Amino acid sequence: MYSGSIEVRAGDAGYRLEVDGDGRLRQVGFRPGQIERGPFAVEVFPLAYPTWGDDPGCSPALRVTNHDGVTTTRLVVDAYEQVPLDGGEEHRIRLVDRDEPLRIVLVFRTWPSDQVLEQWVEISHDQPGPLVLHEIAAAAPAVSVEDPWLTHYGGAWAGEWTTREEPLLLGTKLLESRGAVRPHLQLSPFFLLSPSGRSSEHDGAVLAGSLAWGGAVRLAFERGHPPWDHVRVWCGHSPQGADYVLDPGIVFTSPRMVWAWSASGRAQLTHRLHRFVRDNVVRDGARLRTTVFNNWEATFFDFDEAKLLSIIDGARELGAELFLLDDGWFGVEHPRDGDHAGLGDWDVNPRKLPSGITGLAEAASSAGLRFGLWVEPEMVSPASHLYGSHPEWVVSQPTRRRYEERHQLVLDLCRRDVREFVITTLERLLQENPGISYLKWDANRDITEPGSAVLAADRQTNFWVDTIRARWEVMAEIAGRHPDTEVMLCASGGGRVDLGTLRYCHEVWLSDNTDAATRVRMQWAASHFLPPQVIGAHVTRWGGQDLAFACAVAMSARFGFDLDSDGLSAEERAVCRRATEAYHRIRDLVQHGDLHRLVSPDEGARAALESVAADRSRAVVFAYQLADDEGGGCCPLAGLDPGLTYQSSLLYFAGEIASPPERRIGADLLASGLPWPLRHAATAAIWELAAVPAVAAPPDIPVAEE
Ligand code: DGJ
Repeated sequence: MYSGSIEVRAGDAGYRLEVDGDGRLRQVGFRPGQIERGPFAVEVFPLAYPTWGDDPGCSPALRVTNHDGVTTTRLVVDAYEQVPLDGGEEHRIRLVDRDEPLRIVLVFRTWPSDQVLEQWVEISHDQPGPLVLHEIAAAAPAVSVEDPWLTHYGGAWAGEWTTREEPLLLGTKLLESRGAVRPHLQLSPFFLLSPSGRSSEHDGAVLAGSLAWGGAVRLAFERGHPPWDHVRVWCGHSPQGADYVLDPGIVFTSPRMVWAWSASGRAQLTHRLHRFVRDNVVRDGARLRTTVFNNWEATFFDFDEAKLLSIIDGARELGAELFLLDDGWFGVEHPRDGDHAGLGDWDVNPRKLPSGITGLAEAASSAGLRFGLWVEPEMVSPASHLYGSHPEWVVSQPTRRRYEERHQLVLDLCRRDVREFVITTLERLLQENPGISYLKWDANRDITEPGSAVLAADRQTNFWVDTIRARWEVMAEIAGRHPDTEVMLCASGGGRVDLGTLRYCHEVWLSDNTDAATRVRMQWAASHFLPPQVIGAHVTRWGGQDLAFACAVAMSARFGFDLDSDGLSAEERAVCRRATEAYHRIRDLVQHGDLHRLVSPDEGARAALESVAADRSRAVVFAYQLADDEGGGCCPLAGLDPGLTYQSSLLYFAGEIASPPERRIGADLLASGLPWPLRHAATAAIWELAAVPAVAAPPDIPVAEE
């Protein structure tokens, strides 16, 4: 039996835990800064990981039915160890059931330099047969609150990352997504919780949480009754229909929960999370991202080689660096000329592309562009050779009709043969076409008959977890075999944007909605957690928008195009070309600089962002006018060195803008900003700020002596 207190610390983020007189683990603190118990007895503090049947006063983090039918769990602390790891520590607190052979390890991984904490649980047992895990939170801390405000994100297809901010009142606020393929269309697994009133960029305590899980998620915020006002934050994979049957001797590991705290507003939180994602989550975080030119919105399924060669030529002319061939390139017996056929038959359609992918990749290479290819490897069309040969390979339930969505079915990755098929197919494509250096990994329907032939009848509900693990196994294999092949993560837009799946990818497609004004809001929301290099942002014709404005918006993230270059007027070409040149000049700042959100698009007609170099010698500022207003005022600035002198110059603009270059001291820029030059909707200004030698003070004029 372990007794005593445990401190888990990642800079400002941390837990203080103590074992009470009865051996139970209590959470004394979970907040930034110093965590002290004060004069209170440890028993007044909440259980660190409450279980069903242990504390009737709170919702359980864990609910299990043991093999003998006992439905309650009572945990005591058995052991604690702290293991040093690269760049941090792992704390492992082992809890055991008082009466049942059941073990739970609460694991905390600290990242002190980023001030980020990861947390998850591992469950195992030695009972004579399987037990059932009904609800398993990855984490369920109790956050002390006074006036709690929750910010969460979600929506639907084309409405991902819609921000909602609301006070948390007494009771439970339950946020939950469904499905396993693109659940984050409904709910992003990210949130902000401000315990003491609304937080702003530079004020207020704020907690960021993110469940690193590519499937359905439950986030529940239960505000208890005073006197001790707190919110129990339940974070885990969704338990709906997902009872997990666990055999003895097997360790069930929950998804990871990622936490970051800031005592002084959201900007600091963002800098911590961006560093963490760049250094420890996304692949090749230190590598600058190239400018992608996609053909989807230009052609949809309707293209041939001549058309693509022409687009490649146009992409080169606009300064893009990678041509991405989207859906529609495959299917011989069942050509993919629409969304009704071909998924699963990953052979090039010779009618459309007689020179094959190899020929096209070579053409791109001759034009100086890398080559990327769209795939949807988890899916099959009933009209395909693959489905004809393996109808048993799909996710299905024996008595149920297979519902089709977008005329397609989902392959059952729980099956080893299906995983092998997907891996060998991607491997073959990449081997046969060494010119492919980028994959867009898409997935365009969810699951309606959640069943697998490889799961026994009494463990079909394991499907929801096993299918995500199986997908990650496939993604990890491809990433391991092809470390230099970039992967864009897409699922009907932003259907799976999470820090778990991102480990196998370089970038996410945030949404199919590329309307520039909407994108300002979506990118703003996502920027709280994801660095701009991870956010794919393409210039399109969505809604007939102004291309210069769309360029200015896309330039604040990972810039790219999805356009018919043949259909561009000479003036539009010049606009796009100018954007690419400007972007390449500031790309290092946008992708690797410290991001400052300056003016929120959720609060008015304007928005502004800034990225500052680590040494503060350079910065780029993005100003957007989203609706007409009276003009005037200033664009506030942040992050500059007050003692340096900066030269500001207009790098790019949309609309009629006058903003003459200025040379000003950092302190002055920080105090009064740059004059706001916009007033009409869909106009934008991008300034570059560079430190220059200080202006010498005019020499003293000697006064002639009389
Ligand atoms: C959905 C994606 O979000 C789009 O960008 C495009 O790749 C289509 N699928 C292709 O079917």
